[in-house]
Amino acid sequence: MFDLSEVARGLVAPGKGILAADESNKSADEKRLAQYGIPVGPEMRRQFRDMLLETPEIEKYLSGVILFSETLDQKDDEDGLYFPESLKKRGILPGIKVDEGLEPFPDSPEETITKGLVGLEERVLEFKNKHHPGFTKWRAAITIDGDRLPTTRALVENAKRLAIYANEVQKAGMVPIVEPEVLLDGNHSRLRCREVITKTMQALIAAMEDQAVDMGAVIIKTSMALSGKGKDGEGKNGSVHADTPEEVAEDTLGALMEAVPAIIPGIVFLSGGQSPDEAIANLAAITKAAHAKNVPWPLTYSFARAFQEEALIAWAGKHENVPAAREAFLKRLEQASAALVG
Ligand code: 13P
Repeated sequence: MFDLSEVARGLVAPGKGILAADESNKSADEKRLAQYGIPVGPEMRRQFRDMLLETPEIEKYLSGVILFSETLDQKDDEDGLYFPESLKKRGILPGIKVDEGLEPFPDSPEETITKGLVGLEERVLEFKNKHHPGFTKWRAAITIDGDRLPTTRALVENAKRLAIYANEVQKAGMVPIVEPEVLLDGNHSRLRCREVITKTMQALIAAMEDQAVDMGAVIIKTSMALSGKGKDGEGKNGSVHADTPEEVAEDTLGALMEAVPAIIPGIVFLSGGQSPDEAIANLAAITKAAHAKNVPWPLTYSFARAFQEEALIAWAGKHENVPAAREAFLKRLEQASAALVG
């Protein structure tokens, strides 16, 4: 029987991190392919994943990749292997998103709650038995609006669902990534974001204690503490001023140190709509400050957009552009890995 905490530690091994490639079919079509003028549908999604996942040498920088269910049953171009097999062959652990997306929270419909607890046990066991992933992900989204949102109820209900999910996944023999993403949209300050990350993590830790989650075998995925980027995402990082990487590091680590116990084996960051340069510069500053402060957990990346954006532009859905797209992708992985040195 393998040790789940060892799997968790492997995901945050030195110099390595995670690629999030688990966009649902709808998000992959609308927010990735169509966004860059690329045709949509299952075959284009397969080619999109092939472009990223079959990039030579990604195993130097990736411990794991989070996949969406459709990708588990798709094969790569070069060897005709199912993607999870192809990843494992190179020593990269495949993971699987098991939540079923967001819906309005009935108690406070401007906020969201994550669906997917119904039938979760069966779904998780089926993934485990058929595809043998080592880990899973569940994402909640937390909205900030001044002092009004998030409501405590939304925080508590999202935390409870994350904890129930985490317990279920550990019972099935996989490591859960718990991701309560504090959204970047809005006009809030970085300090307000720090406060919300702190409260979100406190609610999450309390809920995981309630659900008897093994804290030594769970990975936390979090946003960085950043100023809101405007109501519709227009405007650059903040209505007041752009955050410096040192400010981001100070407030991100401040929030995590206030709420997350040392037993947690690793914390990974999402990119959240930052540009690749911003996400990597902030990650580097966070790592540097983390070393100086002697934080108890390994920290690394689990980006989607900051790793994919330039590769998608270079690829444009055309076979002949795959080498250029892979070069752009690999370059960002290499920079993110170098940022972990601190
Ligand atoms: P971004 O890095 O694009 O924020 O995505 C990470 C992720 O997994 C969101 O669920």
